[in-house]
Amino acid sequence: MKAAYIEETGGPENLKYGDLPDPTPTAGEVLVRVGAVSVNPIDTYVRGGMVPAELPMPFVVGSDLAGTVEEVGEGVTQWKIGDRVWGANQGGHGRQGTSAELACVGGEWLHAIPEGVSDEDAAAVALVGITAHIGLVLRAKVVACETVVVNGGAGGVGSMVVQIAKALGARVIATAGSDERVAKTKAFGADEGINYKTEDVAARVLKWAPEGVDMLWESRRETDFDWAVGLLAKRGRMVVMAGREARPVLPVGALYVKDCSVHGFAMFNYPAAEQRQCGDDLNRWFADGKLEANIDRALPLSEAAAAHRLQEENTIGLAGTLAGKIVLKP
Ligand SMILES: NC(=O)c1ccc[n+]([C@@H]2O[C@H](COP(=O)([O-])OP(=O)(O)OC[C@H]3O[C@@H](n4cnc5c(N)ncnc54)[C@H](OP(=O)(O)O)[C@@H]3O)[C@@H](O)[C@H]2O)c1
Repeated sequence: MKAAYIEETGGPENLKYGDLPDPTPTAGEVLVRVGAVSVNPIDTYVRGGMVPAELPMPFVVGSDLAGTVEEVGEGVTQWKIGDRVWGANQGGHGRQGTSAELACVGGEWLHAIPEGVSDEDAAAVALVGITAHIGLVLRAKVVACETVVVNGGAGGVGSMVVQIAKALGARVIATAGSDERVAKTKAFGADEGINYKTEDVAARVLKWAPEGVDMLWESRRETDFDWAVGLLAKRGRMVVMAGREARPVLPVGALYVKDCSVHGFAMFNYPAAEQRQCGDDLNRWFADGKLEANIDRALPLSEAAAAHRLQEENTIGLAGTLAGKIVLKP
């Protein structure tokens, strides 16, 4: 099969495109003919050796996939040949990644693609959709009529947070780094949008929600807790899920006197059974037209190295040249 893989961790130039032996599903696994994968920042950290991981070499990069079941391993009862599936949990915990023509995935990590949804859209929603669901539903427990700020609402995760918060019945205000991206957050359903480069976000948020907001989602790798806690209402919750090296100061007094809480999480820590709930909800919202993929561009899999470079330049370098997911097609 053709695959995008590394033989040792390093920069995007280490990412090769070429032939690897076809994988064979072991007991409990499903062999998927990959229709599309999407690139996530974590794929670039793993490729670059920036997160501790035991990688089977050669290591195929990538977490997300969407495609069609080609073969099932012993004991797999929930999937059959020809089923269309998506998944988001490869490329870690010793598992091979997805950026190839074929990928073996444990059956418990797969979700059915709803009718009418393309492989590209399913792959682009997978990891970011599950992340947004865990943060909003399982951790911050957002409910209808609450107010939510999404800082970075046009990005990969942020655009899912906007849409899921709306699907839950919340009122949403989103920030983005240009007027076009602000418009994008509104197209995804945000009630209000703020250009964080040209406007005073705190002033706009507090005008919109004078008592503060119930929940604030931070997409940045380094947050400002003074700023964020200042925007929270009593019993407000904040989600942080990025910035392994970040060491911002936490204003403890301002946080506890308002009964506020900060929730951190990593989606890869959530077992398949919990992610099943996320996948089921995402699929329902997909089918109901409440969830839309946020694809910036689609490229052939042979351009995986360029895609990693672009993702890195944006997530780490803040280049501002990407707004959404890069989809790769084998
Ligand atoms: N913990 C987990 O399970 C988990 C899962 C997925 C991702 N992550 C992490 O979450 C982060 C975001 O991932 P992603 O896929 O959404 O990346 P992304 O598509 O690159 O999005 C980054 C977002 O940050 C926004 N941003 C940058 N500077 C900002 C600022 N000063 N103020 C407000 N917003 C700002 C960007 O807004 P503009 O583009 O509008 O400027 C963009 O929306 C990454 O660090 C990733 O590693 C963690």
